Amino acid sequence: MNEVIQVIRQHRSIRKFKDSPLTGEQIEAIVDAAQMAPTSAHMQPFSIIGVTEQELRKKIAVHSNNPSIEKCGYFFIFCTDLHRMMLAAGPDQQEKMARNLSYSYFYQTAVLSAALALQNANVAAESMGLGAVIIGGINEALPALDEWLGLPDFVIPLAGLAVGVPDELPEQKPRLPQSAVFFENRYEDDLDLKAKVEEYDRGIEEYYASRTNNKQKVSWSGKFIAMLDKDMPLSGYTEYVKSKGFDLK
Ligand SMILES: Cc1cc2nc3c(=O)[nH]c(=O)nc-3n(C[C@H](O)[C@H](O)[C@H](O)COP(=O)(O)O)c2cc1C
Repeated sequence: MNEVIQVIRQHRSIRKFKDSPLTGEQIEAIVDAAQMAPTSAHMQPFSIIGVTEQELRKKIAVHSNNPSIEKCGYFFIFCTDLHRMMLAAGPDQQEKMARNLSYSYFYQTAVLSAALALQNANVAAESMGLGAVIIGGINEALPALDEWLGLPDFVIPLAGLAVGVPDELPEQKPRLPQSAVFFENRYEDDLDLKAKVEEYDRGIEEYYASRTNNKQKVSWSGKFIAMLDKDMPLSGYTEYVKSKGFDLK
């Protein structure tokens, strides 16, 4: 197994960090790795905001319900960003561009590209012996984050990345079997797929019951069925995305 795969295979999210800031070199290497990710049509539709002000980090941590934002060695926020392209255009071009950008296709490609940059950064951090956790919880701090970070239209915070020197080594979470996620030529038959998920559920129940921290009596599918069974107040998020210029047509 080569070194890149070894680093990827060692992944687990780290949420407890030593009180040790990242060096400028480490920050630069992580951002550089993020920028080398492939992007749709080379649009490079993302920005990364490093949050260094402790008060601001505390505020984001509280609103996002994620204490590691405040306690990590460095905190990045990955945003999808099509603002730069708009800036380069004249006013009548902008009007036409905004019409196209308002289709959900552009939102989807921009989010996908930003996500690849985020994971490049995550792997780069892990390859340097650092720990990291992606924090989607920052979405709970919307739309206030826009104001705190001064984000213009067409810039949407997607997720945070808390990075630092690990102060824990949690057990790795078992993944679904490859045969339940990788199919050749045709999607898996429902009966076979259901059986594989049931088998995985039994294994992950054991994992949650026996792990060192945060033991739970829950299966993988049970967790998400319980979550998605409830009414979730998500229309606010759609409205927020629309308010930033992505009409999601
Ligand atoms: C889009 C996304 C959002 C996430 N948001 C959070 C979060 O808000 N807080 C957190 O502690 N972990 C968060 N995580 C980390 C996941 O909980 C974690 O990756 C998953 O449970 C698998 O565990 P592992 O990364 O240790 O293998 C997020 C991961 C992703 C990809």
